[in-house]
Amino acid sequence: MFTIIGVIKMSAKGFQARIEEASESHTSKIVLALDYVLNDREALFRRSLQMVETLAPHLCAVKINRHLVLPLGLHPHVERLVTVAHDLDLPAIMDCKINDIGDTNHEIARRYFEAGFDAVTANPFIGWEGGLEPVFKLAGESGKGVILLVYMSHRSAGEGYGQKVVDSRTGHERRQYLVFAERAVAWGADGVVVGATYPEKIREVNQVLKDRIPIFSPGIGVQGGALNRVAEAGASYFIIGRSILLSPDPLEAVKAFKEGLDRE
Ligand code: XMP
Repeated sequence: MFTIIGVIKMSAKGFQARIEEASESHTSKIVLALDYVLNDREALFRRSLQMVETLAPHLCAVKINRHLVLPLGLHPHVERLVTVAHDLDLPAIMDCKINDIGDTNHEIARRYFEAGFDAVTANPFIGWEGGLEPVFKLAGESGKGVILLVYMSHRSAGEGYGQKVVDSRTGHERRQYLVFAERAVAWGADGVVVGATYPEKIREVNQVLKDRIPIFSPGIGVQGGALNRVAEAGASYFIIGRSILLSPDPLEAVKAFKEGLDRE
């Protein structure tokens, strides 16, 4: 039995305004990466739901990844989590890292936006025309956001994002991630991702963005990034998953991260 869905609910405010509002009202810059790994799908759904409900007052957004979409399915379970996040005044980000041809990208974004997601992540490697242009267009028409990967948090991120590239128009050599930061500005992205494991890259990207676009930084805790260094470097939002979810007391863990920030 399939239920027909197919309408993107227009958002009155843009994604950036919504996350700023949530951040102010919850006095938090923490985006929860809701990445539980459990084989029992019922338990996975219940645990995820419970975590959103418990931690919501200390978050500015929830980020969902394939950890939930693959086992639970978009409809109705993940859609339900998005609705609950919204009911608790939190925007929901789908970390789908869109990375295909334009028509396929449009379809991916459309499905997530229809499920209620407020923003999607995408990979700028694929370029604009016939790549990410349809995603930005759809997002713009429906009040949704697009967050671009600029420098990832894992150890070998430099193999791709750190490469030297030659600008085909000027012949100048540049670092790939700085070119991506410029594209994020030119394309009107609503955020960029720079790994917390590379605070010096956050600083450099910030110089290109000049506060026009917020930096989302994953990789705090388990991956080795330190929240205070990332905050000092200029990230706006902190994406944290396992260091909260796998803690014996997730509520205390999220509060401790928040307090760490308050002391900045
Ligand atoms: P942890 O458990 O390491 O989870 O706190 C981090 C979450 O963020 C995702 N992640 C990234 N997403 N660019 C992204 O767009 C990155 O560089 C990056 N590094 C981590 C990860 O999949 C998990 O959901």
